[in-house]
Amino acid sequence: MTDAAALDRVRAAFLDELARATSDADLRILRDRYLGRKSGAVTALLKAVATAPGADRPLLGRLANELKRDIERRLAERLAALGTAAIRRDDIDATLPGREPALGRRHPLTLLRDRVEDIFLRMGYEVVEGPELEDDYHNFEALNMPADHPARDMQDTLYLADPLETPTHTATLLRTHTSGMQIRYMQAHQPPVRIISPGRVYRRDNLDLTHTPMFTQVEGLVVGEGITLADLKGTLATCARELFGPDTGVRFRPSFFPYTEPSAELDITCVRCQGRGCAVCKRTGWLEVLGSGMVHPAVFEAVGYDTERFTGFAFGMGIERVAMLCHGVEDIRQFYENDLRFLEQFPA
Ligand code: DAH
Repeated sequence: MTDAAALDRVRAAFLDELARATSDADLRILRDRYLGRKSGAVTALLKAVATAPGADRPLLGRLANELKRDIERRLAERLAALGTAAIRRDDIDATLPGREPALGRRHPLTLLRDRVEDIFLRMGYEVVEGPELEDDYHNFEALNMPADHPARDMQDTLYLADPLETPTHTATLLRTHTSGMQIRYMQAHQPPVRIISPGRVYRRDNLDLTHTPMFTQVEGLVVGEGITLADLKGTLATCARELFGPDTGVRFRPSFFPYTEPSAELDITCVRCQGRGCAVCKRTGWLEVLGSGMVHPAVFEAVGYDTERFTGFAFGMGIERVAMLCHGVEDIRQFYENDLRFLEQFPA
């Protein structure tokens, strides 16, 4: 038996209980008590409507359904209010610093390349870039490494096409060093020359702690009248002290490159032990940093420079290697793995 008064009583009881509910759990109990499928008070009312006298049925049905929706709405509202109240009380610590937006930054190799460029720009050099797809002539031949020259084996080359079947002066390889830019620049300019040329180079190397098939070099070339080995030494010693600190010791060690004569490698005192000898420098106290030398007359001849009038020096340095030494990085692969935990350690 049901009627409008019964509906009002249920509504009043619900509102009374709702007013006293203070938690999620209270609201769940209320929902069960009024809307529960088995024993909910409103559910019972709705069932009773089915047996009400025919004339009252439509009105009672409508009222009972309205009551059900009203209770649902009020429960939901109260639940939401409790939720925000809980967050306000417990979950927000207004004293916490805000979240910093993640800003991009420059790659450590870019940073170092910029530093090297800056050092040489201040010394009056021009920065020029060359192609990574190179031909045999610029990468080898004009640098005094003719076809069967054993020095070609100093670096294992990645060829794009069979060099024997490709006409010279077209791209047949990925440049193995930036030295080809010496030729390209001298072909297009007369002395005096004072350039550095940074860029990527490629070799058939397997990945390990100190090798990647692609890496970065900076080439340097100075040509003019009266350029001597003293200019080379002064310039590179200055560069080394700018990069590694003013107290860095330098030494030049005789070496061999086909495009320079004499050739020398530049060593610096070990960045870790300052020359006393440690694992980094293999107990020698010295670290090899770059190759250099006085430009070989055969190179000048290849570009049509007067070998009686002009002399010059050249050098080539590996950016990854210098970056590893500067920052104490032991695995070159880290520069290419794009792990933010690594990259974010370098001051932008
Ligand atoms: N091309 C050499 C290399 O890739 C580096 C080098 C040595 C460059 C001596 C030069 C140089 O210009 O004079 O290892």
